[in-house]
Amino acid sequence: MDTNNGIDSKPSWNPFDPDFLINPYPHYELLRDKDPVHRTPFGNLVVTRFDDVFEVLRNPNTSVERDRAGIEMPEHIKKLQEHSMDRPPSILMLDPPEHTRLRKLVQRTFTPRGIEKMRHLTTEIVDDLLSQLAEKKEVDLIKDFAFVVPFVVIHSMLGLPDADMLNVREWSQTLVQTLEPNITPEQVDEAIWGGAQLNEYLTEALAWKRTEPGDDLLTDLIAVEEGGEGLTEPELLSMISLLFVAGHETTVNLIGNGTHSLINNPDQFQLVLNDPSVDETMVDELLRFDSPVQNSGRQLLEDVELSGIQVQAGEIVLTALGSANRDPRFWGETAHELDVKREDASRHVSFGSGVHYCLGAALAKMEGEIAVTKLIRRFPDLSIIDEPTFNSRIILRGREKIFIDLGSPAKIS
Ligand code: HEM
Repeated sequence: MDTNNGIDSKPSWNPFDPDFLINPYPHYELLRDKDPVHRTPFGNLVVTRFDDVFEVLRNPNTSVERDRAGIEMPEHIKKLQEHSMDRPPSILMLDPPEHTRLRKLVQRTFTPRGIEKMRHLTTEIVDDLLSQLAEKKEVDLIKDFAFVVPFVVIHSMLGLPDADMLNVREWSQTLVQTLEPNITPEQVDEAIWGGAQLNEYLTEALAWKRTEPGDDLLTDLIAVEEGGEGLTEPELLSMISLLFVAGHETTVNLIGNGTHSLINNPDQFQLVLNDPSVDETMVDELLRFDSPVQNSGRQLLEDVELSGIQVQAGEIVLTALGSANRDPRFWGETAHELDVKREDASRHVSFGSGVHYCLGAALAKMEGEIAVTKLIRRFPDLSIIDEPTFNSRIILRGREKIFIDLGSPAKIS
């Protein structure tokens, strides 16, 4: 049998294959070369070349409103959808003009000034956390560090009380599972429970902020107005839940995947350790090299030509962001190499593209840059104890556990 990087030569996109979940990149390569518009076992198409991904994401004649798709869903997914009916869909699942209206409102609260304010807080959070870690020798990089930073940042940015963090974290983890296409009936039940708890909690938090406004995102979202129309209470709840989940369940994987990539590439690790001028390109390159969000999806509302193939209106097309980010047709022959000095690294599609481009991109990059560079510079000898385990997610790709030995801390300058 022919092999390509040790895998079967038949191109396939099979998220039930454990090998695919651990390392999808050789599979993507085969798909890009031999079947760039591939029919998956779920019946939809997946595109893996940069130009096709870019074209689909930026095409205005596409939709994210899944109920337009007319797909027959399994019973447990229908149950999940029924439970979400009492709340409007988040902006991720809305097309213009409704999407435009809501996005405009929330964008006014995500200002560069607001993000700059979070830079100071993020630095403090990371410094404190690293001091606590210094007291242990061995840590789980994900649980003890990568998760905590974005979680505390988004929690504080919204202006929620610290005391509730553990509960909120549990509820949010049940909800994030709903993003994955292979969710199980048990996970659906957990998500329904977690969603109800979070809803109740956020409803109370909103009532509290209305009487005691603060200098925070929740207060700004309540106050925001455009042409005399603000966000309704159900819209506020949907928006806050999305910001909460999107705000940390993705960035944890930027920090986890990114640090792991650097450990596996010691020359790049040394560059980051010794040369602060690479900090900005580093964070984009880590996002490009092992994307925390591997796929997005759209339904085509018009016929489109992709890689010379005519694709018909009505098809659901997954855009493999992680594959586009490694396509040598776009990035050249070094596409598979980690290069923290890559000048055009910021052209990656890890934050999507077009109208749904990630609202939190600047915040995520700021958090990732501070967390990864400070970790490495504080613990320059850190090393992996056990091979990391993966979270087995198709969309939000990440390491589940990375046990590291921190080695001797560097002197803080
Ligand atoms: C490394 C971290 C992150 C990654 C890789 C990421 C990735 C993405 C991607 C790929 C999309 C577009 C999905 C699509 O086109 O269907 C998206 C949308 C979104 N992201 Fe992020 N994200 C990250 C962090 C954040 C943070 C920190 C926040 C907020 C606090 C956030 C909030 C959002 C929101 C609200 C949307 C929906 C935008 C819309 O539909 O108009 N994300 N993100």
